[in-house]
Amino acid sequence: MPRASYVNGRYVRHLQAMVHIEDRGYQFADGVYEVIGVFGGCLIDVEEHLDRLERSLSELRMVPPLGRTSLKIIGRETLRRNHVQNGKIYIQISRGVATRDHPFPASSKSSLIVTASSGSWPSLSKAKTGSAVVTGPDLRWRRCDIKSVSLLPNLLAKQTAVEAVAAELWMTDDNGFVTEGTASNAWILTSEDEIITRQADDGILAGITRQTLIRLIKREGYKLTLRAFTIEEAKAAKEAFFTSATAIVKPVTSIDGDRIGKGVPGEITCKLIDLYFNHMHDTRDHHGH
Ligand SMILES: Cc1ncc(COP(=O)(O)O)c(C=O)c1O
Repeated sequence: MPRASYVNGRYVRHLQAMVHIEDRGYQFADGVYEVIGVFGGCLIDVEEHLDRLERSLSELRMVPPLGRTSLKIIGRETLRRNHVQNGKIYIQISRGVATRDHPFPASSKSSLIVTASSGSWPSLSKAKTGSAVVTGPDLRWRRCDIKSVSLLPNLLAKQTAVEAVAAELWMTDDNGFVTEGTASNAWILTSEDEIITRQADDGILAGITRQTLIRLIKREGYKLTLRAFTIEEAKAAKEAFFTSATAIVKPVTSIDGDRIGKGVPGEITCKLIDLYFNHMHDTRDHHGH
């Protein structure tokens, strides 16, 4: 069966799924998006992702094209039509089609697309393998809290990581503090076993995986501080990792070629992976999808 995607009210063959050339998402990156993990047919952290989507829309003064219940129905129907049990869904909303002009159009209907793709989650042992991170300047705008489709600086930085055979690039602000990864949030564990990740301000996207992990960390009683850390601190850390809806919790074993801790995935990081995997299993088992 061919892939099907949702475009503005219809499910169409993926190869024929199109938006107009004057869509403001295409011309201006005037739009927002979400990526939600799918595990055992179940959308992980779906309410939190939709909360953030609504917030991103409201920051751009865009009206949600549909209510939350409809969006969830479309998401699940897109999964069903594509037989996706494990993988992700992608939701994008742009300000819609209008004659090219910078100000918001007086009237336009926002464009909504939803795609689903299959992908297997790593086994627990595969998830606990290390990865390399490189660093570079954060070249983005000052509203990184909005999950905008304007991702050019992220793409350039990610390409640098790929060319350096690294899994991520951690970006630094003008004061030498790590903001986040190109598509993930950055974390370290200090020698005093304090878990640190940057506070959710305009400098980072408040990751949903980050938010859920914070809840799990507090529940387990680990020491946690939300503050910015420098690259030097990260390189001297006992453990490091990054989080995102698709990478889950990924151990970092080197930064710019310097070994982190013992150069193998850290003990606490591996415990956090266990916690997140349990959270995914709980979500699936309790929602029955
Ligand atoms: C810049 C950036 N930071 C952080 C994240 C992690 O967010 P989440 O955990 O919601 O996937 C992403 C996700 O793509 C991202 O693009």
